Amino acid sequence: MRKPLIAANWKMYKTPAEAAAFVQAFDLLVAHHHHADIVLFPSASSLAAVVGTPRSKHIQIGGQDMHWLNEGAYTGATSPLMLKAIGCTHVLIGHSERRQYFNETDTTVNLKLKSALAHDLIPIVCIGEHLNERESDLTAKVLELQVAVALEGIDPTTAHSMIFAYEPVWAIGTGRTATPATAEQAHKLIRGQIAASLTPAIAASTRILYGGSVRPENAATLCCLEDIDGALVGGASLDPNSFAEIIIQSKG
Ligand code: 13P
Repeated sequence: MRKPLIAANWKMYKTPAEAAAFVQAFDLLVAHHHHADIVLFPSASSLAAVVGTPRSKHIQIGGQDMHWLNEGAYTGATSPLMLKAIGCTHVLIGHSERRQYFNETDTTVNLKLKSALAHDLIPIVCIGEHLNERESDLTAKVLELQVAVALEGIDPTTAHSMIFAYEPVWAIGTGRTATPATAEQAHKLIRGQIAASLTPAIAASTRILYGGSVRPENAATLCCLEDIDGALVGGASLDPNSFAEIIIQSKG
């Protein structure tokens, strides 16, 4: 019922020419693999090059962040209207690197989520606990609070497209992954909080991705379980062969 989604977060990597070359090579590798939706998240300066490179319909494009306002004096920011105008269908919201280095908070995540839904951009809201929080047995509390604040004041009738990504901060770029059982447990908890904040029906249809050191070798066991509906991939998405292999492995 929930179609898997595998997404590539390229972070601050790839020039426009490198990004376009990736799309050309990658498209050939996944053109016949339709079991999952695929979304590429290039840096803002490569969005036009990626959108402009011919590719299969199931490969969509999104922004790595956006402001919640349509326009204004906000140097360095990109608005939802700008993402839409360039051809984006998706947007990442609240990635832990935005939270850590750019003052993103649960409150700005909430503003961005409302704005994305109002503009028909499909949001992927990123949440996850730090290592010290996990070790202090605070994981459930942290995740529930992140989801609850993100969803404050959201009208359930507008939230059908919404996606979450569980990215434990200690697993990002470290080579360390959550075990499938740990990830499943976190995903169930997140789904429970979505049900409590919105409705059980929305919770049942919301895709929740896992992110944190997903690679071709662990994609089959981590990407698609009962409550895991795909993956958000950083480092291993930068190479077309490795990212295509993750797509193929996610078929199970
Ligand atoms: P890595 O796959 O490099 O651990 O990054 C995960 C991530 O942050 C995706 O958004």
